[in-house]
Amino acid sequence: MLALAAYLIGSLSFAVIVSRVMGLADPRSYGSGNPGATNVLRSGNKKAAALTLAGDALKGWLAVWLAQLVAPKLGLGDAAIALAAVGVALGHMWPVFFRFKGGKGVATAAGILLALDWRVGLVVMAVWLVMAKGFKISSLAALLAAVIAPVLTWWWMPQPVYWYAVGFIAVLLIARHHENIRGLLSGKESRIGDKAR
Ligand code: G3P
Repeated sequence: MLALAAYLIGSLSFAVIVSRVMGLADPRSYGSGNPGATNVLRSGNKKAAALTLAGDALKGWLAVWLAQLVAPKLGLGDAAIALAAVGVALGHMWPVFFRFKGGKGVATAAGILLALDWRVGLVVMAVWLVMAKGFKISSLAALLAAVIAPVLTWWWMPQPVYWYAVGFIAVLLIARHHENIRGLLSGKESRIGDKAR
């Protein structure tokens, strides 16, 4: 039940919602076609990109935080919270409200990690930021952060159920970047700040 609630929260695709509210083009129709903050930035509207980033991160955090709050009251433990973390990530990637065409999960994963263990969340976000500033390629930063996240979860969180949940989310996130990986290998991956063509 908590996982289902988390899935529904995750299904709120803020890239699409924010763009609609602000009267911008649907992010699925330009750039990489990905409903995520990086692609919304390609519209040239920084505010919309920032709101997308905040909304997607916040829903990841909220779903896990709610599960942490409710699980003990229902006699549930870490497994239910871990499933909620997976649920919100699945919702973002395959949203029921948007024909199952969702994003790649980067901002949502940041929110999830912050709620699970703020140290893991902060370090992973710092890795993303340093890599994004250094290479100016959002997907490369996300892929490196995704590799590090399960390692830090294993290092800081004693419950194996969180290692599996974060590991699973990282695998999904990397798989969702398959086109970006092809772009990186061929040297054609777009850089942060490039406008949509
Ligand atoms: O947040 C997703 C990012 O890692 C890649 O996005 O639009 O360049 O495919 P995009």
